[in-house]
Amino acid sequence: MPETQANPTPARKRILSGIQPTGTPTLGNYLGALRNWALLQDSYDCLYMVADLHALTVREEPAALRRHTRELAALLLAVGINPNEHVLFVQSHVPAHTELSWILACNTQFGELSRMTQFKDKSAKHPDNVNAGLFTYPVLMAADILIYNADLVPVGQDQTQHLEIARDIAGRFNGVYGPTFTLPEGYVPKAGAKIMSLGEPTKKMSKSDPNVNSFILMTDDKDTIVRKFKRAVTDSDGVVRFDAAEKPGVSNLMTIYAAFTGRSMQEIETEFAGRGYGDFKLAVAETTADALAPVQAEYARLLGDKAYVDGVLKDGAARAARLAGRTVRKVYRKVGLLQLEG
Ligand code: TRP
Repeated sequence: MPETQANPTPARKRILSGIQPTGTPTLGNYLGALRNWALLQDSYDCLYMVADLHALTVREEPAALRRHTRELAALLLAVGINPNEHVLFVQSHVPAHTELSWILACNTQFGELSRMTQFKDKSAKHPDNVNAGLFTYPVLMAADILIYNADLVPVGQDQTQHLEIARDIAGRFNGVYGPTFTLPEGYVPKAGAKIMSLGEPTKKMSKSDPNVNSFILMTDDKDTIVRKFKRAVTDSDGVVRFDAAEKPGVSNLMTIYAAFTGRSMQEIETEFAGRGYGDFKLAVAETTADALAPVQAEYARLLGDKAYVDGVLKDGAARAARLAGRTVRKVYRKVGLLQLEG
């Protein structure tokens, strides 16, 4: 981070991103987000957060949430997040997020939040629990981002509207109270890949899919990975060719293969010319399993060393809190909250 001496380059841009601890991430989460989080560390100052407060908008077993939070932190370390050069922390460990969230809520309109498509989708999906947190979710997310004056925010397509409202809130606040927040930009990584369901390849891969064969978990073992890929929906034309509209299943498998091997679609088509889908699926499965194996081994090791993981999170929270506290004090002053000296 800028104020530690470790990094003498002054103006590295700052990245913030978050992921909810709602269970083991999928291959889609890995190729779409987590792998890029690790790569971005070479070029940016990164803050990566386990968004446990956001996870509370959907009811969850308390013990499971606690376990998922520590597991996700361990998994982030296993994919290569470097907690010495960057900051890895848990959202609820930095109370300044919720403090800023209230101030921002008072600068966000009911109408704006009502237009959020995720709110509408989630309220339809959980009609028995349309809680106020679900509604103000984008305000907390804006606080997560603005509190660190993040320049760039890597997010998936489903979060771009939330990023947009964070920009709107920041711009409006700056207009009323004077320059305070950096306007964050979305970041679409070059190497990012949207991975689709193996069972219904026109839908995004999701761990909440009732069909467990439609997703690969980052912790799936090789046999499971091979079995799931063997069952992946393809088509009847038998040719490995990229065509997302006409051949979504095969194209999705090609996207996964390309993401791991770095080969182009053209090269993959040539590699599997005249060979059946069976061969191709096995190659995708083995490549995936081999790529995940070292991450899984490191994850298992870290789960056996809770003290280390918790130490990383403690240190991360302290460093994040220093940065966040500065913003909150400034904002409190600007909006006119009385601050006592000393
Ligand atoms: N809402 C994000 C998601 O569900 C997670 C998140 C919380 C986040 N706060 C954030 C992402 C801030 C980026 C920046 O995916």
